[in-house]
Amino acid sequence: MADLMLNRHVMARLQTEIRTTTPLLLASAGKNQDMVVMEEDLSKMPYLKAVVKETLRLHPPGPLLIPRLSTTDCDINGCWIPAGTRIFVNAWALGRDPASWDRAEEFMPERFLEQEGSGSEAAAAAPDMKGTDFAFLPFGAGRRNCPGINFGIATIEIMLPNLM
Ligand code: HEM
Repeated sequence: MADLMLNRHVMARLQTEIRTTTPLLLASAGKNQDMVVMEEDLSKMPYLKAVVKETLRLHPPGPLLIPRLSTTDCDINGCWIPAGTRIFVNAWALGRDPASWDRAEEFMPERFLEQEGSGSEAAAAAPDMKGTDFAFLPFGAGRRNCPGINFGIATIEIMLPNLM
C-alpha cells in the first residue's frame, strides 16, 4: 500500500485493470451494490500479479529466510563452508542486486510484464518467485522452502484488488 501511494501511476494502472476486468464491478457501477473482486476474476489481472511480485522483491517478509546449518564441509562456487556453519541467505539483498535488476531500488511492476508474450494473460512474467530463480527468493528455495506459498499468494491476490 505504501509503494502504491508513493507511485500513483502504478496505483492508477492497477485500479484500471481491476475495474475493467471485473464483471461484478462493471455491473454495479453507479448502483448502490456490493463490489467484490472474486477469485475467478484474478486470471485476467497480470498487472496485479506483477505488483505483488514487485512488492515481494523489494520487501520480502522473511528477508534472511530461515537459517541453514551445513552438515558436512562443502565448497560452493569457491567459497569453503566447514561443517556446522550457520548460513543466512540474504533474500532482501538478492532482490535489490543491481547485477540482477535494472533500476533495482525503484518500484516498477512493469519489469515483470516486459518479457510476457502478447496475448498471455494468466500470470506475470519471469523471473519466477517459487525458488527456481536465485535472484528472487521471497519464499526461499530447496527442500525447506515455504510450503504455504500458494496460500500466501492467493491471500494477497484476493485482498489487494478488493482494497484497490
Ligand atoms: C506472503 C506470504 C509468505 C511468505 C513471503 C513466506 C515466506 C517464507 C520464507 C522465506 C520461508 C523460509 C524458506 C527458506 O528458508 O527457504 C518460509 C517458511 C515457511 N513458511 Fe512461509 N511464507 C508465507 C506464507 C506462509 C503461509 C500462508 C504458511 C502456512 C499456511 C507458511 C508456512 C511456512 C512454513 C511451515 C515454513 C517452514 C518450512 C520449513 O522449514 O520446512 N508460510 N516462508
